[in-house]
Amino acid sequence: MKKMHFILLAVLALIMVRLVSMWFIRLQDKMAVFPTTLDSTWHGPSIYVDNTTKGEERELIIYGQELIVHTSRYLGPKGSVAKITSGMNCQNCHLQGGAKAWGNNYAAVFSTYPKYRDRSGQKETIYKRVADCMERSLNGTPIDSNSREFKAMYAYIKWLGEGVPKGKKPHGSGIQKLNFLDRAADPTKGHIVYVQHCQSCHGSTGEGLMTLDEKEYTYPPLWGNNSYNDGAGLFRLSNFAGYVKSNMPFQIATHQKPTLTDEQCWDVAAFVNSQSRPHKDQSKDWPNVAKKPIDFAFAPFVDSFSEKQHKYGPYKPIQQFYRQ
Ligand code: HEC
Ligand code: HEC
Repeated sequence: MKKMHFILLAVLALIMVRLVSMWFIRLQDKMAVFPTTLDSTWHGPSIYVDNTTKGEERELIIYGQELIVHTSRYLGPKGSVAKITSGMNCQNCHLQGGAKAWGNNYAAVFSTYPKYRDRSGQKETIYKRVADCMERSLNGTPIDSNSREFKAMYAYIKWLGEGVPKGKKPHGSGIQKLNFLDRAADPTKGHIVYVQHCQSCHGSTGEGLMTLDEKEYTYPPLWGNNSYNDGAGLFRLSNFAGYVKSNMPFQIATHQKPTLTDEQCWDVAAFVNSQSRPHKDQSKDWPNVAKKPIDFAFAPFVDSFSEKQHKYGPYKPIQQFYRQ
């Protein structure tokens, strides 16, 4: 009898050891995929080295990544699922599928949403934020929140931010912030920058270049009918300039070694955002007018600066006004 007990105990102990070590290996695997990145610069994980996420969840994440990278193939003018967006891809602006440091990434999305945003005056969910980009940056209509497509994008964005603690924004998340110039950004100077550093890919009329099958862009448009509308984030010069600083010219500029000076970035932002593009009715935005960002281009304002100064600067006097 005693002997039986002993064997049973030994077997139980072995099972326990095995379970704990399996759990530990899984944890190590997870930590290798999602390094803790609050001090060092965040880089998105790769699903292909993550062997801990399995089954339906894994399939959703992979489909979500595909939808972010090749949005237009599924949801664009020739989309296979629906025809509800312009020909652009989320990745055109959220580089490397939203996984690139300083590339307008999704590092802090899962950790900070739902959150209150002044533009809508509401607490916004991830769904609302994605719908916003679809209506503005993709100049289209939002996807159904119950669709497999939205669930996939959500699963991917959630998974990307898995290593980021709730409420935190890792170093390198989103877009770089540039200092304001002492003068207004200058579209004429920006035109010179554009011809020299951007036109070879984005085209002399900003129209970009489509792939041969015309289902998505090789070089996305910067203005014109197929570009983002004037309610989009990039229409604000600070966002555009900061995005360009660490990322454009594509695969030449990096955050560590930018090609353009801050002045060139502000000026090219002024040039591009002076060209024609689709218009969005924004009369319902910013219910509290005092909360409009300094570089938001459309009146009414609670200050007495012109729309022109709000759009192009100089911003420092406006900043001063709000500090007092
Ligand atoms: C034309 C460029 C552009 C395209 C295309 C675009 N976005 Fe965005 N998106 C932005 C910019 C710029 C911001 C940041 C705006 C700001 O902070 O004011 C943003 C913000 C976001 C955010 C919130 C990020 C945060 O940290 O708060 C999410 C989520 C998002 N976009 C999802 C998407 C999805 C999904 C798509 C495709 C369906 C998409 N975007 C397409 C430019 C774009
Ligand atoms: C070598 C080609 C190349 C050059 C040069 C280049 N870009 Fe881009 N740009 C791209 C590509 C490709 C993308 C989309 C990246 C992706 O989808 O992965 C892009 C995306 C963008 C976007 C976001 C998408 C959109 O269409 O609004 C902006 C803004 C942008 N570029 C601005 C500029 C500016 C300004 C310059 C000049 C300083 C510039 N680019 C130079 C290739 C280039």
